[in-house]
Amino acid sequence: MKHLYFLIAVVFINLVKGILNPRFHRNWGLLNQDGCGLQPALNKAPTLDLPDIGPEPVEVQEGEYPWVVQIHMENPAKEGADKENSCMGTIISKRHILTASSCFRIYECDPIDPHTISVVAGRTDLLCSDPVCEEHMKLYNVTQVFFRNTNGPPQEGQNIALIQMATDFDFNDFVRPICVENGYLIHKDYSKEHGMRVTGWGVNNYANNFTRNLMHARVWIYPEDYNDFIYKLLPESFQDQETYDTFFCVEARKTSPFIRPTSAVL
Ligand SMILES: *[C@@H]1O[C@H](CO)[C@@H](O)[C@H](O)[C@H]1NC(C)=O
Ligand SMILES: *[C@@H]1O[C@H](CO)[C@@H](O)[C@H](O)[C@H]1NC(C)=O
Repeated sequence: MKHLYFLIAVVFINLVKGILNPRFHRNWGLLNQDGCGLQPALNKAPTLDLPDIGPEPVEVQEGEYPWVVQIHMENPAKEGADKENSCMGTIISKRHILTASSCFRIYECDPIDPHTISVVAGRTDLLCSDPVCEEHMKLYNVTQVFFRNTNGPPQEGQNIALIQMATDFDFNDFVRPICVENGYLIHKDYSKEHGMRVTGWGVNNYANNFTRNLMHARVWIYPEDYNDFIYKLLPESFQDQETYDTFFCVEARKTSPFIRPTSAVL
């Protein structure tokens, strides 16, 4: 009888693990298409090694992050500065972008008309207007936005949204999807390693100026005890359960002149 219980328990644990494993999701097959995560525009062999960029955020090269898109949204029901918002997103399939649900907070409880959202792919310079830098960029329409939870502020660590495009992306050297990992890379212990790069348009903390070009920085990932320590230093308005659950700390080396991103993609 004991053995039987053990067997049932093992089967049950594996079942739960299986259900939670995104590889078993019916749409997993849409991800990781051929050529995902590559940077053909850089004319280099693919590698997981991070380029030797320093702790200072530097401008990315054209085609270095071909999965990064800019998303613009406008709530026609509102007036003034809260009417519009821009966010970054990451192309994960030929029809889908992953982004943060809080990007859509400007809609509050108003319906989200997909026509009020546009996506620009293949652009690194936000203010680009000349034909050379416009060459790779293309505007796309949206059909629907899906939220894990709501479009409010981050809730219970589920600040995530999926945008479905009206047409397929034209994949090329400057527009292509990222690969989605659920294995070695995600479970690896990165404590104190340069395990991550952060990319963003945003305000540079040192210069306090807005960077019109997409920037990236190499960052250290902190171990859990450091993480907790730094979390407690956050302003009180940031300290809630949702933030704690999703919070992990990274730091650029030395004095951390970091991009304060309008949004960031890992
Ligand atoms: C986006 O939709 C508008 C109409 O709402 C249309 O005029 C335009 O051609 C569409 N753009 C693309 C790239 O499909
Ligand atoms: C703004 O920040 C960027 C990146 O750090 C820097 O290259 C640029 O010189 C700064 N511009 C001004 C006006 O400070």
